Amino acid sequence: MASLGRLGILTAGGDCAGLNAVISAAVKYGTRLGYSFVGFKRGWEGVLSPMDYMTLDARAVSGIAHTGGTILHTTNRGRFAAKKGTGEGKGIPREILEEAKRNLSSLGVDGLIVIGGDGSLSGARQLGEAGVRVIGVPKTIDNDLAATEQTFGFSTAVNVAVEALDRVHTTATSHDRVIFVEVMGRNAGWIALKSGLAGTADAILLPEFPFTLRGLVDYLRARKATGGNSAVVVVAEGAKLGEHVAAEGSGASEELHYGGIAHAIMAAVERAAPGEFEMRVNIVGHIQRGGSPNARDRNLGQSYGVAAIDAYHRGESSVMVSLNNNTIVTVPLLDATSRLKMVEESSLELATAAKLGVFISDRMS
Ligand code: F6P
Repeated sequence: MASLGRLGILTAGGDCAGLNAVISAAVKYGTRLGYSFVGFKRGWEGVLSPMDYMTLDARAVSGIAHTGGTILHTTNRGRFAAKKGTGEGKGIPREILEEAKRNLSSLGVDGLIVIGGDGSLSGARQLGEAGVRVIGVPKTIDNDLAATEQTFGFSTAVNVAVEALDRVHTTATSHDRVIFVEVMGRNAGWIALKSGLAGTADAILLPEFPFTLRGLVDYLRARKATGGNSAVVVVAEGAKLGEHVAAEGSGASEELHYGGIAHAIMAAVERAAPGEFEMRVNIVGHIQRGGSPNARDRNLGQSYGVAAIDAYHRGESSVMVSLNNNTIVTVPLLDATSRLKMVEESSLELATAAKLGVFISDRMS
């Protein structure tokens, strides 16, 4: 079979379930067409000097599609970071883009498949503008990319959160407690919303819908007055009680690292209603990102991997593969990185939760 050239693959940003399914499908399908592959390690860092990469062939991707994490490793910081603060875009220095370009060409790599979220795909867009052929694959447990109906990794994260909620319900009921469950979701509260509705949470607190402490306390009191001695409150990490809460943690990233809002809300409820509620906090955290992908994320990852190769093979560049009505299309990387998909009042699950009496905001209760 004639060789069609060499493609690079990298996974960047936070990991999620399904990354290996994308890698495996892209390499298996691309190899059948006649491409060979290099996998760059630890995201963009592997493309920069000193390069870090491995050969990706049928043997390297054998038996990985169902596994969690990424065989290529990843990072959400470093010299290629294209986001800072609460998600503002950042231009990658010209010399870094040129270094990446030079390094790719020194390995004979003609094009790059970038598997990442908003920040990593912004980096891909900038490299595309510098003249490298790039195809993006939308990854993030937050499901906040507006240009695709669903990112892979999201479905598994929701399933994990639902299981946590199911377990928390029984212990909350046994102890007559209010239990806050903090889930991930920086800007968009999709994980909190979908898991909260499926896991029959009593309140769902989202970044998109401001609420007041007074409103939440009144809701919990009213619930207690009618015999609801326990309550489960799902809190997206990006929810605000006046302001965002930044997590303690190590590792310098230019983006604000959220986490801890559930503790802040619990403390505020205690101050507003001392001794009225026995409360606890559980943080699901990275358990949502680790472990095996569910069937949905495996299938989505496999389809995205194959579609990325098809897009490259057709001659496309600076596009992202996107789920649209159960088919995969391509959209310009510029569109893919310019707008986030937020929970709206008209979102199906939000409207459903509000009608069921779930507390979301003072206005909707
Ligand atoms: O963007 C995905 C995500 O899981 C967010 O929900 C979360 O804020 C962030 O990554 C956490 O990243 P890390 O703890 O890996 O720095």
